[in-house]
Amino acid sequence: MIFRQLFDYESCTYTYLIADGQSREALLVDPVVGNATQYLKLLSELDLKLIYAIDTHVHADHITGLGVLQRATACTTIMGEKSRSDCVTAKVSDGDQIKINNIDISVIYTPGHTDDSYSFLLSDRVLTGDTLLIRGTGRTDFQNGNPSAQYDSLFNKLLKLPDEILVYPGHDYNGMTVSTIGEEKNNNPRLQISSEDEYVQLMNGLKLDNPRMMDIAVPANLVCGIGDSIMPDLNGS
Ligand SMILES: [Fe+2]
Repeated sequence: MIFRQLFDYESCTYTYLIADGQSREALLVDPVVGNATQYLKLLSELDLKLIYAIDTHVHADHITGLGVLQRATACTTIMGEKSRSDCVTAKVSDGDQIKINNIDISVIYTPGHTDDSYSFLLSDRVLTGDTLLIRGTGRTDFQNGNPSAQYDSLFNKLLKLPDEILVYPGHDYNGMTVSTIGEEKNNNPRLQISSEDEYVQLMNGLKLDNPRMMDIAVPANLVCGIGDSIMPDLNGS
């Protein structure tokens, strides 16, 4: 398997490139529109064909690259069935499998950060979107976020995975790149609580500022980020 973790410096978003070394089929998870040229160049350099572009949820802090990548490569764009984004070509549900040749990816519905948040499990790693971050968890105070739902997603789904499963989050703001389920169980301050009520209180007490791009990003992402004003020049460098 080919696996690359790519970083967007503006929004501290991680984008993941996963590809099968034999068939050369690839997928991207959480691509950022401004980096689409970089992704296409990397795909070309690695001799890969983009099959799927996936968003873990409707993002509030950056504009998705799904639409522009679909136009450039004719890939299938995917979000979870709970997404209100009608621009994707396929929607997946909890328990579904996304397959590229020998790589199987299981879809896990993990609401809480938003009500359309999904995680994606491979044999040895899980992409947790903004549900489980390294030493943190995604905020739950907008886009139908719900701390009780996030508690359930964390404690009854993600943390039930084997301790050695690698955790690749949707963001990091502190320079961390990868963790494991066991490492987060023991060291993530948001997970050192004894009840759902305690988690709800913790999350409701955060009082965070809204993301800078939220008013632009959410409506743009509901149309896969393909408004004319935000389309990058894919021929430029
Ligand atoms: Fe998010």
